[in-house]
Amino acid sequence: MIYRNGLLSFGEDHLFPLQALAAQKSDPFYIYDLSGMRQRARALKATLPGLEIHYAMKANGANRILRTFRSEGTGIDTVSGGEIRHALAVGFPPGEIIFSGVGKTRTELELAIGLGIKQINVESPQELQRIIALARALGKKPRCAFRVNPDVDAKTHPYITTGFRENKFGMGDHFLPELRLILASAGDAVELVGLTLHIGSQLQDLAPLEDAIRKTLPIFYSLQEEGHPMRTFDVGGGLGIRYQEEHTLPPRDLALIEEYGALLRRALKGFAGQVLCEPGRILVGSCGTLVGEVQYLKETPDRNFVILNTGMHHLLRPALYQAHHRILPLVLHPDRQIKRYDVVGPICESSDVLGKERELQEIFQGEFLAIADAGAYGYSMATLYNEHPLPKEFFWEEQVLSDENGADLSALLDSARKLRDFDLSP
Ligand code: LLP
Repeated sequence: MIYRNGLLSFGEDHLFPLQALAAQKSDPFYIYDLSGMRQRARALKATLPGLEIHYAMKANGANRILRTFRSEGTGIDTVSGGEIRHALAVGFPPGEIIFSGVGKTRTELELAIGLGIKQINVESPQELQRIIALARALGKKPRCAFRVNPDVDAKTHPYITTGFRENKFGMGDHFLPELRLILASAGDAVELVGLTLHIGSQLQDLAPLEDAIRKTLPIFYSLQEEGHPMRTFDVGGGLGIRYQEEHTLPPRDLALIEEYGALLRRALKGFAGQVLCEPGRILVGSCGTLVGEVQYLKETPDRNFVILNTGMHHLLRPALYQAHHRILPLVLHPDRQIKRYDVVGPICESSDVLGKERELQEIFQGEFLAIADAGAYGYSMATLYNEHPLPKEFFWEEQVLSDENGADLSALLDSARKLRDFDLSP
């Protein structure tokens, strides 16, 4: 998303001015760039021969996005029975579904075991026991991977760090003796096929991930020597994006993916098994934007509030993690003064803030603001709190604008041609 001719223009390989769409849709909406997502998936796949991507669908489960990744040949990482059923419904075969999460219920495990999914990432000894009991009852032999807690500091927001010994996720090596005993008594009820780790999300510094992989590989080899059919090493997700920075073309994400690939090549040199990863944010985060309309301006002695028709119910990240998302006017007016605003939503909570103390060009009722980099953990964490409807979702690919059902809405962009002579060519 970059400014062209003073218009905030969405997309990467092809651009269109968001104002053209916003002017006709007064309700808040998300828009996603499917070509950008494809490009990221391809770039990631190219970093390591044989790397298997399992898209973490919790980042964004829009059907069109899931189908896009499916058509790129990725598998899928799920964390609930709901996500498993959703993945099946859009066409992911069971053999390409991974099931992660610390709290898998009996019903969810029955579903996964019954389907014979690719791998269940096991997070505790009790979970392993439950899987064994269910496998026997169902007469199935599920493939399991142990989620290791490598005890590294991922240096990310405390709410999204997961690989530290204080976190609820994964299993530190003190669990190994107990896990070995359980496996020994399980006979051939389950197959231990690999290890998995995920140390946290929005990693800026990748060094802790490299550490984690190096700490975990010896466990892989020792379990292999003990006779388990170990073949998969799942490095999780976590690769961060640059929320603070303006977008560039080519996108900076591609450089981050390259850096990540170099890390994997280094840390897994000589590893002969299958390398899996579970990225979410890096594939979709910067390819999505939320657009809201200014309902009211409200000046108090302390603050200038911009009150939008979108807020924490559509994008929770700023309220929950004090996450920064750039907030951008759809049309630049260089003649306007710069003012300091708190950009807030309509929800009855003081935490309903999308951006605090933002320097923006003066803005007026009825104009629109874009909240950048909202493709990951935006819509998927949206709620019906206060009973506002969920935002609409639009998709942009190969110069076609469409809705969630694939209906072509490109005609809406005809008005774009009248906007400051905007040129839609790439
Ligand atoms: N694998 C596992 C086991 C995970 O728990 C997660 C994310 C991923 C993969 C994907 O991580 P990613 O590549 O997207 O960083 N709501 C938070 C992020 C929570 C991440 C939860 N787990 C946010 O908005 O920043």
